Order: sequence, then C-alpha cells, then structure tokens
Amino acid sequence: MYKQLIRPILFRFTPERIHDIIMLVFRFLSYIPLSKAFLSIFNNSNNNKLGKTLWNINFPHPVGLAAGLDKNAEAFEMFGSLGFSFIEIGTVTPKAQSGNSKPRLFRLPKSQALINRMGFNNEGVDKVVKRLKKHSSNLIIGGNIGKNKLTPNELAVDDYVFSFRALSEHVDYIAINISSPNTPGLRELQHKEELNTLLGALNAERESLDIQIPILVKIAPDLTKNQIDDVLEAISISKMDGIIATNTTIDRFGLKSYSKTYVEEIGSGGLSGKPLTDRSTEVIKYISIKTNGNLPIIGVGGIMTAQDAKDKLDAGASLVQLYTGFIYEGPNLIKQINKLLLQV
Ligand code: FNR
Repeated sequence: MYKQLIRPILFRFTPERIHDIIMLVFRFLSYIPLSKAFLSIFNNSNNNKLGKTLWNINFPHPVGLAAGLDKNAEAFEMFGSLGFSFIEIGTVTPKAQSGNSKPRLFRLPKSQALINRMGFNNEGVDKVVKRLKKHSSNLIIGGNIGKNKLTPNELAVDDYVFSFRALSEHVDYIAINISSPNTPGLRELQHKEELNTLLGALNAERESLDIQIPILVKIAPDLTKNQIDDVLEAISISKMDGIIATNTTIDRFGLKSYSKTYVEEIGSGGLSGKPLTDRSTEVIKYISIKTNGNLPIIGVGGIMTAQDAKDKLDAGASLVQLYTGFIYEGPNLIKQINKLLLQV
C-alpha cells in the first residue's frame, strides 16, 4: 500500500516540504486518542521471540528509527505506533539553530538514496526536554546530541555535557553524534585526543550525576581501520556502552545512475540509503570482530530490505535502525525485517 499509493503522493513534494507536512500531521494526530490505534494497523511487529535486552532495557524487537527524522521529539509516539521498537530523537544541540540554507535534502530514487546537508536544524535541548516531559509513553527513546555550529571544537565538550545533563533524565540512552558531515569540524571530534577528552568528560558527568544511562557513540562510515581502532580504545577507556555504526558518508559511490555533473550540482552533504549498505555492514563486522562481540552495536546505514537488516545483525549488530529505507519502503519494512528474523 505504501509503495503503490502513499509514496507516489509523498514524492510529489520536495523532500523537506513533505517531511515538515508529515511532522505537522503527526503532531496534530498525537492529540487524538484513536490515531495511535489507527497507525498501528501498519504495525504487527510485536512478537515476544524478537525481544532483546540490552543495557537493562527491554527492546520489543530490534528495529528502531534512526536519528534525524524526529529531531525535535515531536512525533516519537506516532513513529512508535508505526512499529518501531525505539526512536532516536535529535540531533539536539544546546541552543536552537536553523541549519544550512535550503535546499538541503535531495532524493536520488534511481539509487534509492538521499543526500542531506541539514546542519543540525533543531529547536534546542530545552524545548525538546519540555516536549519529552509532556509525554508519558513507555516507548524507548534515545537522545542524540551534538554541538552548535558556532561552538568551536575546543569548546565542544561543554555543548555535549550541557545537553547530556538536560536530556539524560528523560531518555533511555544517549547517542553522541560526532559523525555528521554537515557541521564543519564535527567529525574531527572522532580523532583520538579529542574523543578521549569528550568521552572522558561525559563519563565523569554521568558519574557525578549518579545516573545509570547508557552512552553510545555514533561514527562515520568513512573512518579508516586505524581510526576505528582509536574510537574503540576511547570507548573502552571512558566506559561508553555501545556504538552506532554508521552515519551518512561523504563519499559518492553507488550513484552510477546519475551523471557526475548532476551529483556535483547537488553539492556537499551526507549520502544515505542503498549506496551505504555494504560499507556500514563492513564497519559493523570490523567492530564486532575487534571487540569479540563485547561492545553492543546498533547497525544503521542502507537497510533497504529485510535481508540488509539481517546482514547487519549477522555481522554483529544487536539492534538496527532505519532512515532512508523507511522513506523508500514505508513501515512495511519493519514488518518484513521482523518476519524474516522469525524465520531463522
Ligand atoms: C540523518 N542522519 C542523522 N544522524 C544523526 O546522528 N543526527 C542527525 O541529525 C541526522 N540527520 C539526518 C537527516 C537526514 C535527512 C538523513 C537522511 C539522515 C543519519 C541517519 O541517522 C543514519 O545514520 C544515516 O542516514 C544512515 O542510515 P540510512 O538512512 O541509510 O538508513
């Protein structure tokens, strides 16, 4: 139904316009009690056999929504009703910011891909916390945090600690985003020294607040093996709880259906969807082998089919997340993944 009926309508709008419209509709629906029941007709992902417990959190099944779709925690309950077992809100920064100029989100349907350079457009952590406080759902929520564009890297730690302090009481886990390509310099925070300082400060903050919340680190697919090793070492030293692999790529592989000029005209940004599938699975596999399967991994990047999700789980991920696959395939993809997982 989604691909034949709904997607053709949605794809008539520019990607950001339809995203805004859907978020508006979902916000409106969230005030209507029956709407969740209506949306859950798309959802039959509840099956005890798929449940997983990680960090003392009971995930009903392994498929969650990746960061970036519900940046401001406006519609997480609606996404939950569509079948996701957990929702990662954000990336949230301490202060509200409008992000890069538009257009900044592009569909490449022949490659089942998206390119975005949103630039952490969000309403700021205080507003997001207010929204989270109003909702009393049992849904598992991750809070993905980043730094403001105007904050220099030398002061980035303060931004992350600020948002961590504000959000940690209201979400189930925290994701540290140091891998978005759309905030200048952000990915440099993945370098050894910077990362040790950042993660060390977050762990110290967690200890001083005396809270148990798990902290996960979200990495780019463009890191070399040596760089991944550095990240894993920093994670181990600072007692982080897991890794999210991966964010979007700055590479432009897998776009053969489009001319080089067309892709260049789109310009900078992170590429997601099908071109990313294999690369992010490779990264997951590498991390799983390096850590002997002892570091929980959330696998994300180009899950467009149920088999793609299974490949990530087989490579060592404990949970998976969707973004671009959800845009192209709709909520049925969640159902298909769980169906395949039940067969094995
Ligand atoms: C993203 N992604 C993202 N990630 C993140 O940590 N913080 C963010 O704010 C965003 N924003 C965002 C916006 C848009 C439009 C897209 C397409 C993606 C990255 C996302 O969570 C995911 O890691 C990648 O998109 C790879 O997964 P998919 O899309 O290939 O399933």
